[in-house]
Amino acid sequence: MIRIDIISAVPDALESPLNTSINYRGQNKGHVEIYVHNLRDYAHDKHKMIDDKPFSGGAGMLLKPEPFFECIEKLMKERSYDHIIFPTPRGKLFDQKSANKFSLAKNIIFACGHYKGIDERVFEQFATDEISIGNYVLSGGELPALVMIDSIIRLIPGVLNDSESALNDSLMDGDRIEAPCYTRPAEFRGIKVPDVLLSGNDKKINEWKEEQSNKLTENWKQINSSE
Ligand code: ADE
Repeated sequence: MIRIDIISAVPDALESPLNTSINYRGQNKGHVEIYVHNLRDYAHDKHKMIDDKPFSGGAGMLLKPEPFFECIEKLMKERSYDHIIFPTPRGKLFDQKSANKFSLAKNIIFACGHYKGIDERVFEQFATDEISIGNYVLSGGELPALVMIDSIIRLIPGVLNDSESALNDSLMDGDRIEAPCYTRPAEFRGIKVPDVLLSGNDKKINEWKEEQSNKLTENWKQINSSE
């Protein structure tokens, strides 16, 4: 069982993805508990302000430190956390290896920034991990948190059934891409499923899969190598 706490200024953005498909199943089967905390509930001034102008000037608002401090300190008093993750484009690039590591944790916090960012003191005080999901800028940490949570939940033993097993996934076996897959009909609009897959010959099928996987892996390496 993993417990995940998500702190967000826009908790509605998290609702549907957390409550559908595998994420829902993981919770429903008791493999993961997810708690969403609205940052605004931890703002106590008259206007429930969670953001303010940066001292450095310039455009955009920053999330203030007080609500994050209060929320995270409250959670840390209740249990100890293996990871306090801040999604941010300046962080370490997320990959399958990181997903595997996080899936072994007991308690994780995802603290999501929004607007222009978060007061630096919040990172200094609490961040165990600053993680980026790619070299592009999103409007907040919610989508990155959801991406990471999805990849973590499907790795928890018992969440996927055998036929969905995460072990066969592309990129799970080191840096290997799996062979293409087909289902019925065997011919669709004149396009046929490769004959070998209909042959019933397991040895031939495995050889074909290996060969296809090699090709796709080579191609994947090539299209992703920097110039
Ligand atoms: N917040 C904004 N952009 C992000 C990114 N690419 N990865 C993680 N968090 C982010």
